Amino acid sequence: MENTNSFLVLFLAPVKEYLEDDSVSEILINGPQQVYIERGGRLEEVTAKFVSEPALKAAATNIAKSVGRLLDEMHPRLDARLPDGSRVHAVIPPLARVGTVIAIRKFKKDTLTIDKMLSFGSMDESTIKLIRALVALHKNVIVSGATSSGKTSVLNAVSSFIPDRERVLVIEDASELQLQQRHVVSFETRKADKNGQGEVTIRDLIHSALRLRPDRLVIGEIRGGEALDLLQALNTGHAGSMSTIHANSPEDCLRRIETCALLSGIDIPLAALRAQVASAIDAVIHTARLSDGSRKVVSIAEVMPLSGGEYQVRELQNWCTESISADGAVSGRFALCEPPSFEKEAKVAGIDLPS
Ligand SMILES: Nc1ncnc2c1ncn2[C@@H]1O[C@H](COP(=O)(O)OP(=O)(O)O)[C@@H](O)[C@H]1O
Ligand SMILES: [Mg+2]
Repeated sequence: MENTNSFLVLFLAPVKEYLEDDSVSEILINGPQQVYIERGGRLEEVTAKFVSEPALKAAATNIAKSVGRLLDEMHPRLDARLPDGSRVHAVIPPLARVGTVIAIRKFKKDTLTIDKMLSFGSMDESTIKLIRALVALHKNVIVSGATSSGKTSVLNAVSSFIPDRERVLVIEDASELQLQQRHVVSFETRKADKNGQGEVTIRDLIHSALRLRPDRLVIGEIRGGEALDLLQALNTGHAGSMSTIHANSPEDCLRRIETCALLSGIDIPLAALRAQVASAIDAVIHTARLSDGSRKVVSIAEVMPLSGGEYQVRELQNWCTESISADGAVSGRFALCEPPSFEKEAKVAGIDLPS
């Protein structure tokens, strides 16, 4: 894949500098007069401007055209992935009040390794031991967190512990993960074309993946009804699978999976669904972006059996913020909480746990 930012540069000349700057992760255009960028986890306003609203809107419609999609009165929102992996979302007026709004999430060529996350203080040695044990023991893991808290990066790092001898099937809406193992088969969903034809969803791809003899499934992100398909897959084998979901805490993660499963439209009693969630998901790795822009694994929690119909989690490790300096820098430490319930299992398998 060539650096197709050149392609965006053509349409978005006023923000060329930021498209080409690898330290910029996002470019946010709020109408012709206001542009923000994200760099090192922080937003800053920059002086770039577009000549006029028609010029900006033309740029957005050209981006849409170049990926075979429409952006017009009848299709006022565009969600697209560009050939270089960047993601573009655009909304045009009158839905967008300030003029055409475009957000570009640039494709990160060098994904974060566990070692880099360690050196950034996003996790510590104990976090790594816990994650390695979860993967080695084939636990089903969900990485949760807010938008841009680092879920995909953590999922990618977690997947690096999958042994080479296993067959891994990866399903994503927009290809972001970069698994390094030899036996990885990746799939990407497809949006409907301009005639509303040809859509292929995560659910469809899970259906196919299950017939392709996976040892593990890696699903980029759960957003809807595919949660139910995933739960059923996990409860009938395929241990050691992993995914991400938008949630505010490990408990919230389980509730969100439940809510997504309900979106499948398949009627299932709530009590039965909860039991499925609690038995399918073994652990939640929760990520957060702190006030200084740093991203951390703020909690690793094991999912316990339901109690009185409610989800129970057992926190194995968490991040404790101890102080925030005047310039916003956060300091604190990772603390071990309860020992994992799979301590014995790990010992038998010769897997080292943090002490
Ligand atoms: N631990 C980290 N340290 C520094 N930057 C990170 C870290 N994790 C993620 N990032 C950066 O934050 C941005 C969002 O990360 P991503 O994993 O895509 O988040 P999410 O999947 O939660 O939306 C990316 O630019 C990524 O490179
Ligand atoms: Mg993500």
